[in-house]
Amino acid sequence: MLIRRRPSWALPESAATPESVMLSRRSLLAGSVGLIGAAAMPGLALGAASDDLYPVKRNDSFTLDRPISDERDVTTYNNYYEFGSSKNIWQAAQALKVEPWQVIIDGMVEKEIRIDAHDLIRKMPLEERLYRHRCVERWAMAVPWSGFPLKALVDMAKPTSGAKYLRMETFKDASVATGQRAFWYPWPYVEGLTIEEATNELAFIATGMYGKPIPKQNGAPLRLAVPWKYGFKSIKGIVRFNFTDKMPTSFWMEVLGSEYGFYANVNPGVPHRRWSQAQEQLLGESTYRPTLMYNGYEEQVAHLYKGMPQNKIFY
Ligand code: MTE
Repeated sequence: MLIRRRPSWALPESAATPESVMLSRRSLLAGSVGLIGAAAMPGLALGAASDDLYPVKRNDSFTLDRPISDERDVTTYNNYYEFGSSKNIWQAAQALKVEPWQVIIDGMVEKEIRIDAHDLIRKMPLEERLYRHRCVERWAMAVPWSGFPLKALVDMAKPTSGAKYLRMETFKDASVATGQRAFWYPWPYVEGLTIEEATNELAFIATGMYGKPIPKQNGAPLRLAVPWKYGFKSIKGIVRFNFTDKMPTSFWMEVLGSEYGFYANVNPGVPHRRWSQAQEQLLGESTYRPTLMYNGYEEQVAHLYKGMPQNKIFY
């Protein structure tokens, strides 16, 4: 396989350099360690192999009706059950090694693809999009994601005509993700979309945020962003994209299928079994705002569900 990695230290200093790499360079220099020497030392990473790609150009067609959330809030208040069920997992998530990161694209495709995530990211058309995010638990945020349309990956995969769904799977390694030792959960985390949803213009694979590579706690190196659906659909740490003719059973469907369905589209008028979904609280705000139909993306996605039973598409 062609290796297209370009180490970040090989770039001229004038090139866009992510903050994390600058910081690690600074601390290395402060310690009087030569960069070449440091690169050869175990444990001293100079950033993942696609870090040099950020920031990417914003696509202005995706606008917000609310302020962008504070980066600190977004990166320290998370749901990532692989690292525990509290919101405070961001430090635990640093144990995850995201380079190299093998991705498999298989199932009902012309030809199975195995590729390193960072090589995949380099092949894809990267852009920045401002998206709302609505967690089923009623907190919400607005995030500048960097990444690529999921449709670009579907086009690359060339699914066969029988493929109806895209099933996505997270890594499984309980030695680093201690939450995966919770045996009562059906690891690995799984999510799915119909092919029509996966190729809708809004379906996005986030590889970065706030003009930098995406942090581990937010789903590095590949994380889905489907902003018209409740947040649990936006699977993090993806290792496998599997095309299938069977509706995937997602992690939360398996855990509690009576409360979490396959479609999980946002609808303020359809309450969760245990709470209302009419309002939401933005990270960093103390008051509630009204939740929007399809989280404000009705125009782009409502046609996907025409004629389908309401009790199927909103939970
Ligand atoms: N992906 C995996 N693999 N594991 C998870 O626990 N939680 C989901 C989703 N993706 C989750 C996941 C839920 S419930 C939400 S609301 C979002 O990630 C949270 O994303 P954030 O932490 O970046 O805000």
